[in-house]
Amino acid sequence: MEQTYVMVKPDGVQRGLVGEVISRIEKKGLKIAALRMNFISEATAKEHYGEHAEKPFFPSLIEYITSGPSVSMVVVGKDAIKVMRTINGATNPVEAAPGTLRGDFALDIGRNVVHASDSSEAAAREIAIHFENSEIVDYSRIDEVCIYE
Ligand code: RTP
Ligand code: MG
Repeated sequence: MEQTYVMVKPDGVQRGLVGEVISRIEKKGLKIAALRMNFISEATAKEHYGEHAEKPFFPSLIEYITSGPSVSMVVVGKDAIKVMRTINGATNPVEAAPGTLRGDFALDIGRNVVHASDSSEAAAREIAIHFENSEIVDYSRIDEVCIYE
């Protein structure tokens, strides 16, 4: 089983899309192992998006991600990293396929509703930035016998 870090960004929270995002994760069969709403601090945002520090959009990205409360999750399941990227859709919502969160609910690359880690290294790094180990809950979903062969 793989773990990934998922965020409903401030635009998703303001637009009442938290339930929609969580619903798609749960219905897919992925398990939510940690869940919290908070304001991301500027320091945490800069650490989270450190790979983009030199990009022209970095200042506006930090402003956006700290502009309101966001929802952070640890999501667990088979190939969870790849599956969550597929559920979210392409970075630019104009390119995102219908049926993906960004394809269904966004238009602007700077307001694309959700985040998910893009590799196992990124997932481990981002989970450690946003959660203490003690916040990540170890349990089984009763439907796992139906979801997994
Ligand atoms: P995320 O990290 O938020 O899940 O998005 P991603 O992997 O699909 O895309 P990434 O390249 O990591 O970019 C991070 C976020 O920066 C904003 N962005 N703006 N104006 C631009 O050209 C541009 N490019 C990226 C987006 O909000 C993107 O989600
Ligand atoms: Mg990214």
